[in-house]
Amino acid sequence: MAGGAARSTSSFLLKRSGRVGRVFESQAVRSERAPGHRVRSLALTALLDPSVIHRGRVHARHFRENFAQGGIDLVQIVPELVTNADAAIAAAGRRAGRILLAFEAPDPHFLARWHEELRRVRAPAIADWRYELRCTDDGVGVNASTVDARLGALGVAPDHADQRGLFGRGLRDIWLAQGGGRIEGVRDGRAVESWFFPAAGDAPYAFAHVVDEPASAAHARALGVDESGTRVTVPLALRTLPINARPRRLVAQLIQIRPVLADPQRELWLELPGDAPTLITEPSIEPDAERALLLDEEVAVQPGVTARIVVRRAADPIPLSPSRATRLGGLLILSGRAAHETTLGSYEGAPGARHLYGEVRCEAIEVLQRRALNSPRPQVVVRVDRSGLNEHHPMVQRLRAAVDRALAPIVADEERRASAHVVRTGRALRVRDEVGVRALNDALRSAFDAPGSARVQYQETRARG
Ligand SMILES: Nc1ncnc2c1ncn2[C@@H]1O[C@H](COP(=O)(O)OP(=O)(O)O)[C@@H](O)[C@H]1O
Ligand SMILES: [Mg+2]
Repeated sequence: MAGGAARSTSSFLLKRSGRVGRVFESQAVRSERAPGHRVRSLALTALLDPSVIHRGRVHARHFRENFAQGGIDLVQIVPELVTNADAAIAAAGRRAGRILLAFEAPDPHFLARWHEELRRVRAPAIADWRYELRCTDDGVGVNASTVDARLGALGVAPDHADQRGLFGRGLRDIWLAQGGGRIEGVRDGRAVESWFFPAAGDAPYAFAHVVDEPASAAHARALGVDESGTRVTVPLALRTLPINARPRRLVAQLIQIRPVLADPQRELWLELPGDAPTLITEPSIEPDAERALLLDEEVAVQPGVTARIVVRRAADPIPLSPSRATRLGGLLILSGRAAHETTLGSYEGAPGARHLYGEVRCEAIEVLQRRALNSPRPQVVVRVDRSGLNEHHPMVQRLRAAVDRALAPIVADEERRASAHVVRTGRALRVRDEVGVRALNDALRSAFDAPGSARVQYQETRARG
């Protein structure tokens, strides 16, 4: 190592001195009016001669660790598949679309082929699984060339800015966190089936089109779509499937797919083993009869950024959820078609926030996310594992402060009303006590009048209770 370093330093010096004259000339002319810059530009140019730049290397396990952050859990997988399907329907330019999510056992024929082929090319892919999640949509579809272009590289910007659910390299995160996966589709008269799996070497992943041919009616029929569409398959690491009620509740409550559930132009069906597909609808919260809407206001977040905050009140305290990914209460933070997280700002867990729900719409989130991705210091607004907003981002902190300012008087009012209620209860108790004491006095008096009566004790206990 030390010898290699010394060699490269000396060759670097040689190259540097050999190139100085040529490069320096043009730099010097430009730097004439700022003599202080002359030396610096010379040094920079020479130091970064392309022939001496070393490229960083990466081991496959680095990618695997990263992929695993973004695609292990169903609360990550389901929103990614559904938001991709939703965007594909929008991209098709159709008014309405249908998405079918199915938890199923894999097709044995496919599983056997996968096992055999991936073992042959020595890919460290998952070899066997009992259950998989399939998401089918009748959107714009895919074919080999769109798979190459859109999924063949990481970090490709999406086609349609305003139609995205979540940000990032979602689908590959999920496939590679799960050890592989496939996409089938029909688009522009061609059909494709592509397998994605961990690469045998140090590439982030590998993929192959196992079908790439003109589309026939049979292809569309196999997908259950009319003209174009896509089916994405994700193998699941589950040894047993949870009872059907759990995935049903999960899908119905996942906050990141609420915009899809809320859209009357989208149908989301869920198929679970042994059950017919069911249409999943938005979770409903019964609004307070008198004070349903507490706030609807456009607020300033930072110069050039506003957010619309809507706070509603539920008739009953909203049940707490162990997972923020599925909770019903709180304000849903939205941008475009993406739902990022729910928040109660600093009032998480406050008694005065138990009835509150609503939304915070801040379109700047998507703009700033794009800007961050293109900047030399890409501080993202949305966390890379897509679990919510990055609380270290200055704009996110200001958004949270804006939410706090909006919630402060509401929570204070809720708590004042609640304590007024407690005071009223206190007064009622006191009245009851007074009645009780009077009854006790009466009882004692009659006890003195008629000693030895059992009725007295009974009346005394009643009066106290
Ligand atoms: N259901 C689908 N139908 C059509 N194209 C899809 C579908 N899912 C994914 N794609 C394509 O793959 C691309 C990459 O998807 P993904 O990795 O989830 O990243 P992103 O959603 O951030 O673009 C999408 O931009 C889209 O072009
Ligand atoms: Mg996506």
